[in-house]
Amino acid sequence: MFRQLANRLLQPVGLELVRRHPQVIPDPLPDDALYTGPEDFNRLYRPWRDPALDRWLTPAVLGHTMLSRQKLYTLMQCVRLTRGVEGDLFEAGTGSGGAARLMLDVSRELGLHRKGWFLDTFAGYQKVDATVDGTHVAIDQCRLAPRDQVVELLRDPAAEVHVIAGLIPATLNEVHADTLAFAHIDVNLHEPTATATAFCLERLAPGGVMVFDDYNWPACYAARQAIDAACRQFGQEVISLPESTQALLFKR
Ligand SMILES: C[S@@+](CC[C@H](N)C(=O)[O-])C[C@H]1O[C@@H](n2cnc3c(N)ncnc32)[C@H](O)[C@@H]1O
Repeated sequence: MFRQLANRLLQPVGLELVRRHPQVIPDPLPDDALYTGPEDFNRLYRPWRDPALDRWLTPAVLGHTMLSRQKLYTLMQCVRLTRGVEGDLFEAGTGSGGAARLMLDVSRELGLHRKGWFLDTFAGYQKVDATVDGTHVAIDQCRLAPRDQVVELLRDPAAEVHVIAGLIPATLNEVHADTLAFAHIDVNLHEPTATATAFCLERLAPGGVMVFDDYNWPACYAARQAIDAACRQFGQEVISLPESTQALLFKR
């Protein structure tokens, strides 16, 4: 009533009385430091910045992976989601082994003694098809650590760990896993992505989770095509993560 009356008087001079909305954001937030970043105006929550995660994101993990803290957080949370799911761990494209180390550590925290199957050439790209993968990729690119260093990093008294060297798909024959609970696909190229994804989807238990590292990256467009084709074949859906190169799959 008062506002209506005041607005009638203020209208001729171009002013309006408006209700001030109550403060909806607590000020300060209890974990204020975790809301900072380049999109400051959005004040997004970034739990991967929490120093409490240093317990998992150890030098053994961070010092031996190409994955950012943000991507490692996604990987870690997805491994956690498989708590009640039977099966082994699998990674195509283990590189220097940091992400694999995290998969083993998080499984151990869950009280699970999962077997781990970790595959790489351990010599970078050794087979490239420029007509499919593009002319921007070449033999010997993406060469990370040698196998013996990765074996050392992944040594684990609580788990049976297999570090398998050679080209995917040939090395998939050495993976003696009937059931998988969690798989990480990070090989960038079409053929190993297609074959490893199909291999995993055949074995992934219901409730099992897959993380694809390079689904949204334009340089890995051929890998995305391989993942989409495998998902169509096995009747599964992939979820592209916004503002990340990663995508997720929850087995139905
Ligand atoms: C982006 S790197 C993996 C990064 C790793 N996951 C990490 O945590 O840093 C991609 C890996 O795929 C491997 N790779 C590519 N093609 C492969 C194939 N056909 N068979 C096995 N490994 C392959 C490369 O040797 C390279 O180590």
